[in-house]
Amino acid sequence: MSPIPTTTPKFINPRAKFNFQGRTCSIAGVGSYVPARVLTNAELEKSVNTSNEWIVSRTGIKERRIAAKDEFTSDMAAHAARRAMEMARVTPEQIDLIIVASITPDMPFPSTACLVQQKIGAHRSAAFDLEAACAGFIYALEVGQQFIMSRTYDTVMVIGAEKLSTIVDWQDRNTCVLFGDGAGAAILQNRPNSHGLLTAVMGADGRKSDLIFMAGGGSRCPATADSIAGRRHYLKMEGKETFKSAVQAMQTAAQEALRRCQIDISRIKCIIPHQANRRIIDAVGERLGAKPEQIFINLHKYGNTSAASVAIALDEAVHSGRVQAGDLLLLVVFGAGLTWGAAVIEW
Ligand SMILES: CC(C)(COP(=O)(O)OP(=O)(O)OC[C@H]1O[C@@H](n2cnc3c(N)ncnc32)[C@H](O)[C@@H]1OP(=O)(O)O)[C@@H](O)C(=O)NCCC(=O)NCCS
Repeated sequence: MSPIPTTTPKFINPRAKFNFQGRTCSIAGVGSYVPARVLTNAELEKSVNTSNEWIVSRTGIKERRIAAKDEFTSDMAAHAARRAMEMARVTPEQIDLIIVASITPDMPFPSTACLVQQKIGAHRSAAFDLEAACAGFIYALEVGQQFIMSRTYDTVMVIGAEKLSTIVDWQDRNTCVLFGDGAGAAILQNRPNSHGLLTAVMGADGRKSDLIFMAGGGSRCPATADSIAGRRHYLKMEGKETFKSAVQAMQTAAQEALRRCQIDISRIKCIIPHQANRRIIDAVGERLGAKPEQIFINLHKYGNTSAASVAIALDEAVHSGRVQAGDLLLLVVFGAGLTWGAAVIEW
């Protein structure tokens, strides 16, 4: 029997067919962290040939945060994790698994998740990293969800964290104005007072892997004097094509997630899109038939923080009161790979 008393069902729970016997994967706590240093568009005007007017009109970004030299992805992740634990009232010993989504891990190995485990004292937990670029947080949610619903684990920490300032080419005006640093975290648990994560769509298209990439540092192009001189340890992006693919993929993913739950867009209280570009968000919102007031936007403050983006936005939406118990949320993301994803959550 469902633990949630309902007279007429409000929606279909696609996971019900798996006979989870009332188990849910709820987000019991969220937290985020951004570094103190604010980098404004006016400052960027001094280092590359750009203008505040261009950046705001083409992207919506006004400023972004930049981590300190001695502040690493794992530090930001640990701050966000502690805040999520506080909200969920979870102790470090309770955490069974930590998943960190990032394209800027502290090191190629060990995983940033292991470093976070040590920093927050979650010594009992398993820990691994997941790489799906800007779609990483939804990928991590869906992976973490599997462990909760299968009863493998009771408490999973999912984190999106990035220090993109270390892979941005600060001489390239096409990309350097877009990105920032930060982290967001969520604790997943079975809390049958809500349906929690109803569904998550994940997608990828490796044929478009050359739209956003960083060639240097992997096994194909290890660090050499030449690779450094050739600036191959910086992110490269084909902006226009990425823009088109992002709009298309986010629309398709969101519609598929809503279709699975038989939820009309008008019933979504808060849409939390990947915060890459205001024009991408507006185009996706329009194609979905969403009203502007349904869409949560914070990219003017942080720019694109990749895997941390929707995690930070979710935390801010919850803590600003935009999201209340029982509300339906739609998260929708897009990133290098290409990768994309969408999730429907009953809060
Ligand atoms: C990058 C992006 C903002 C560029 O906007 P756009 O409207 O497509 O701009 P264009 O590529 O047409 O460039 C227009 C002109 O602005 C110039 N330009 C690019 N960056 C600039 C900057 N920071 N300041 C001033 N001019 C800039 C270009 O050089 C180009 O000049 P040209 O016409 O003389 O060649 C946009 O394509 C975008 O957001 N793409 C998706 C990026 C993204 O989301 N990536 C992450 C995915 S997870």
